[in-house]
Formats: sequence, C-alpha cells, structure tokens
Amino acid sequence: MAKSVIIGSNGQLGSDVMKAFANEEAVGLTHDDIEITDIDSVRRALSDLKPDIVVNTAAYHNVPKCEIEIEQAFRVNALGALNLAKVTESLGIDLVHISTDYVFDGNKRAPYVETDLPNPLSVYAASKLAGEHLVAAYSSRHYIVRSSGLYGHATCRAKGTNFVETMLKLSKQKDELRVVNDEILTPTSTVHLAEQLREVVKTKAYGLYHATNNGSCSWYEFAKAIFEIAGVSIKVAPVSSAEYAAPVKRPLYSVLQNRALQSLGIDNMPEWREGLHHYFQVKINN
Ligand SMILES: NC(=O)c1ccc[n+]([C@@H]2O[C@H](COP(=O)([O-])OP(=O)(O)OC[C@H]3O[C@@H](n4cnc5c(N)ncnc54)[C@H](OP(=O)(O)O)[C@@H]3O)[C@@H](O)[C@H]2O)c1
Repeated sequence: MAKSVIIGSNGQLGSDVMKAFANEEAVGLTHDDIEITDIDSVRRALSDLKPDIVVNTAAYHNVPKCEIEIEQAFRVNALGALNLAKVTESLGIDLVHISTDYVFDGNKRAPYVETDLPNPLSVYAASKLAGEHLVAAYSSRHYIVRSSGLYGHATCRAKGTNFVETMLKLSKQKDELRVVNDEILTPTSTVHLAEQLREVVKTKAYGLYHATNNGSCSWYEFAKAIFEIAGVSIKVAPVSSAEYAAPVKRPLYSVLQNRALQSLGIDNMPEWREGLHHYFQVKINN
C-alpha cells in the first residue's frame, strides 16, 4: 500500500483528498505541521514520514490579495512548490501539485488542452505558472494537475467560503442578484477531483494534467443551477465582467479539456451539474 502525505489537509480540496486516499495510508499535514516556504520544514516533515506520494494542495490563492502581496504569492506558489519538488526528488517521492485554469488568458475560446501555451493575466496566475515550471524542472516524478472553480464542503481557507455558499447567503440578504455571464469555466467538485487524483497517482505516467468536471457554464448559469437545485426562488440578472468591475483581470474563458486523462482512459470526471447535485445531497444528509 502506498503511503501518502496530504499538504493543506484541512483545506477545501485537502479535506476531500484525505477522504479519497483513506484506504491508502494517508497522513494529513496542516499549516501548523509544515511551512512549504521553508525548505528545512519541508525536509523535516517528509524525512520523518517517508511517504511514497505527496499531494500539495497548499497555495496563496486569494486572487485580489495576490495583486497586493506579490512577494507572498510567489513565496508560497513558486518557492513553496520548488521546495517540495527538491525535497521529494531527493527522497524518491512522487509529487502531485495542484494548479489552475487561470494560467490561460482565455483568448482561445475553446477548451484548453495541456499542450496549449499559458499566458497568465494576474499575479496569482503567474505565480502558479512559476510553481508549475519549478515542479517540472526539479521533480522527475511529478503530476501537475490544473483544475477550475473548486467548491467543497470544507471551507476554502484562502477565501473563507465558496461560490455555492456565497450565492445561498446572498439570496437570503437580497431580492435580486447580479452575476457575471461572460466568464466561462467549469465549476469542479473537490470530491470528484480528489477521487480523480487517486486514479492519477496509480498510473506513474508523470506529467501535466487537466482535471475538471466536464462541460462548462458562466458564473451566471452556475448561480441559476445552484438556486434551481436548492429550490431557492430569486431573480438573477446576468451582467458583464466589465460592468461588475472586478479589481483583477481573469480569463473570460478558462474551460479545460481533460485530454491527458482521456488518453489514459481514466477521465472519471462527471458533468459539472452532477458535482453540484452531489454537493447538495451531502449537505442535506449532514
Ligand atoms: N479554489 C479554487 O477555485 C481553485 C481553482 C483552481 C485551482 N485551485 C488550486 O487548488 C488548490 C487547493 O485550493 P483550496 O481551495 O483547497 O485551498 P484552501 O482551502 O485555501 O487550502 C489551502 C491549504 O494550504 C494551507 N497552506 C497555505 N499556505 C501554506 C504554506 N505556506 N505552508 C503550508 N500550508 C499552507 C492552508 O492552511 P492555512 O489556511 O492554515 O494557511 C490550507 O490548509 C490550490 O493550489 C489552488 O491554487 C483552486
């Protein structure tokens, strides 16, 4: 049985990775247990535990904050990734590193595949791309996995909430919501992504992967689906991202095709609406 260490184990994705890897010997590390920007901390933690696989979900990913705290964004997303790559390489450990659809600029207007050229639009995206390059350069046993629009039951620690819960909360406070209709993405369930990661690490086919739920929608369509499934009746108005005047540039189209998973015959990611239905089923049962 492979032994895994999950970094960021109390985070939104990390919590579901812990569950998905529960049948393996999975050890969770929170920020109290490891500081990925400090190579001595990384070396200490991983030399003690001696895992076969490390899954890194840690990131500095509050997108507007990254524009202000640029050094911190690069420290965590780039230097942290480099430290993990160096230490796992020296100890012969496989490294799963989570990245983002935001590495693309959106101009393609068709699903991005792993061989498409990134062109980040923000500090967050550039720091994540730097992390990808450093992992690829320093770890010969890496899986870099890009995903999109994550939501899960554990609170996203960097943002304090997720889009589903934000919409539900706002629907209790307002009579009408305005939601961006010209940013197209694939909302992705952290449960589905975590289960997909478990399949990826079995392959030993190291490299770059796209892993999102299938299909695509705008944030507006996502919001409509949330209210439909939750049985909430509220007026939702579509607005353009220009009207919304967000402080940071985001790709208007960041749909990923899971081509590498498909070519290995292991694309198990359901359609995005299925992820949302599953989210509400679990929410109701808890
Ligand atoms: N959320 C999205 O929509 C989205 C979309 C695409 C890709 N991603 C990527 O998916 C990954 C997981 O996101 P998430 O939403 O699960 O994040 P999250 O809930 O914020 O969890 C991140 C975890 O990493 C820990 N951490 C942060 N900085 C650390 C450091 N320097 N050293 C050690 N641990 C540290 C956090 O602990 P503390 O909170 O205690 O610091 C937390 O446990 C990230 O790589 C992100 O870039 C996210």
